[in-house]
Amino acid sequence: MHNQIFENYQENDRSSLIPLLQDIQSIYGYLPENALRDISDFVQVPLSRVYGVATFYNQFRLIPLGENVIRVCRGTACHVKNSANILYALETELGIKAGQTTRDKKFTLEVVNCIGACSIAPVILVNEDYHGRISVKDIPKILKKYQTAKKIEKAEEVV
Ligand code: FES
Repeated sequence: MHNQIFENYQENDRSSLIPLLQDIQSIYGYLPENALRDISDFVQVPLSRVYGVATFYNQFRLIPLGENVIRVCRGTACHVKNSANILYALETELGIKAGQTTRDKKFTLEVVNCIGACSIAPVILVNEDYHGRISVKDIPKILKKYQTAKKIEKAEEVV
């Protein structure tokens, strides 16, 4: 699937490493191991070095995201409005820490800085949806909405 990407690059050119990683991630949403091996062969950089670069920059992911990505804003306005408690509640409810994905791959939890919605702080972003002025007690309801939404979509696909 990713072999066409290599047509845009020169073989044995180490400077292509990061752009290739970015292109591969744009296809899969993360960097699969076989793609990293292909990049290593193509640019003639040892696989360990490719891994080193992929893990150094936090723009790269070595594991796929969950079906739903929850981004908790920890910018100043949200911090003042207790976003730490929101994050803690999400971690507790999902049983994961920020930066992790639930075992069932339903949710990935991330922490971000200001997402430009300070007027409705504290705010979380679930996929493309902003949830503002939320409190800890809203968390179970919000999570349920996304668990249910996916189930309904899948049921519709089967029909
Ligand atoms: S600080 Fe959270 S949206 Fe701006």
